[in-house]
Amino acid sequence: MKNLPKLDKQIPVEIVGAGYYLPERILTNADLEKMVDTDHNWITERTGIHERRIASPEMATSDLAILAAKSALENAKMEAEEIDLIICGTITPDMQYPSTACFIQKGIGARNAFAFDVSAACTGFIYALSTAYMYLSNDYIKTALVIGAEKLSSVTDYEDRNTCVLFGDGAGAVILKRTENEGYGLIDFILESDGRNVGWLEVPGGGSRNPASEETIDQRMHFTKMKGREVFKFAVTAMKRTTVRIAERNNLAAEDITWLIPHQANKRIIDAASQALGLDQSKIHYNIQKYGNMSAASTAVGLAEVIINNDLKKDDYLLLVAFGAGMTWGSALIKW
Ligand code: COA
Repeated sequence: MKNLPKLDKQIPVEIVGAGYYLPERILTNADLEKMVDTDHNWITERTGIHERRIASPEMATSDLAILAAKSALENAKMEAEEIDLIICGTITPDMQYPSTACFIQKGIGARNAFAFDVSAACTGFIYALSTAYMYLSNDYIKTALVIGAEKLSSVTDYEDRNTCVLFGDGAGAVILKRTENEGYGLIDFILESDGRNVGWLEVPGGGSRNPASEETIDQRMHFTKMKGREVFKFAVTAMKRTTVRIAERNNLAAEDITWLIPHQANKRIIDAASQALGLDQSKIHYNIQKYGNMSAASTAVGLAEVIINNDLKKDDYLLLVAFGAGMTWGSALIKW
């Protein structure tokens, strides 16, 4: 795989606001015990998940995203009209088309923005951040709203114990702005994918390969199918690799990182990645126990939680790392 270069000196891009939204309904491991042949101890020992949030039937992904976006705008003390670009990382769009980002644009009234979705599964928020960064740092626009939002419960088979215990719904958002603070804000990205293993994690039905039909419904092809063991092994290697590489090429040791904000697919995967860097557990932001795997929303909500709930100081380093279907993986380094 080609090594992408470290970002050269460009116009600084910083995060000026963050917000998140999680549905109220909680689905616990005890609830799942009544639905499939599983138990709380198996789920917590193998994954670290205790409960997850589930959106109500009338809410689509954009509804979760709109609430997260409004909260980020409030946090940034900005009006929606000031936003030039909206990018939504999601694999559970409201519809095949139009984009979920356009529904979000309508919902928040960002009439001066252009809007589109990015599909990179659980790495979607990092891919979306890097895309917005490119527009901002090249002086094309001044502000961007970047969202990771998912209603994974809409593609989860609650008769399949291999997958239904893992996923939850939620949305996180940040507002990016061009600034004058040389060396601060989004300072590096590593983005990678390997299409050879597209079949390890997929929703095979409903797209142009297998359009929705009685047969696709009967075969439950509109739900997530996953080769869990293969994904697990791949994820450990990819997460270790991207975490160590981005730290090394920015001359950062474990003690220099203030917060590691990893994708929350499995606590054992997170721990393997952080151990590869020699990072103290207290520096890892976990929300997997409360929310499960929210795909693109996991790192988005994690980043927003870290920003909102901590008194971040100048020169703090935040490191986002993720992997997902595709397979895709990557990292983003932020200097506060
Ligand atoms: N409850 C109880 N038993 C379960 C279960 C559940 N919810 N799900 C699977 N099992 C069973 C399996 O059927 C298997 O039984 P068998 O040995 O009789 O066949 C056994 O538990 C062990 O399965 P295995 O797949 O080896 O477990 P594991 O330790 O690999 O853990 C995952 C399973 C899914 C938690 C793990 O593979 C994983 O996290 N994979 C990555 C998933 C992921 O990250 N997906 C999202 C990517 S963004």
